[in-house]
Amino acid sequence: MNRLLFILSVLIGLSCIGLSNMLVSGKDIVVVSNQLKHNKFLKVHCRSKNDNLGVHYFFIGESYNFTFHDNLWGSTLFWCDLYQGPHFKHHQPILAYEYLRKEYDITSNKWVAKENGIYLSQDGKDAVFKYEWDGP
Ligand SMILES: *[C@@H]1O[C@H](CO)[C@@H](O)[C@H](O)[C@H]1NC(C)=O
Repeated sequence: MNRLLFILSVLIGLSCIGLSNMLVSGKDIVVVSNQLKHNKFLKVHCRSKNDNLGVHYFFIGESYNFTFHDNLWGSTLFWCDLYQGPHFKHHQPILAYEYLRKEYDITSNKWVAKENGIYLSQDGKDAVFKYEWDGP
């Protein structure tokens, strides 16, 4: 086999691994839900390296979600800034989704903004406390 053919087949092989990784992992979802009190609304701004999902506002009881596929290289990462309206005195950035930290293929990250902090429920499991407002 000549050198060019060898390099080409390695490249094709690598893309197949990436592609199957994407197809197998299917569609993922991030949900952010407002369960604050005292008529506060929630301002949410989510981003990844390549996507800016814009600023969205939600009343109590409402939620926001977006879906995506893990990228070919398994480096999918979304973060969101959460702010408590109407005065935006309290703010917290969260790591909304990260492929690399998954112990298995998590498909749903549901974040719940409450008065005493921000909770995460993964794939429908019990919500666990993850961030305090104005935390590190
Ligand atoms: C995601 O948002 C859409 C549009 O607002 C809504 O119809 C859908 O039920 C939501 N899905 C989840 C799982 O929250």
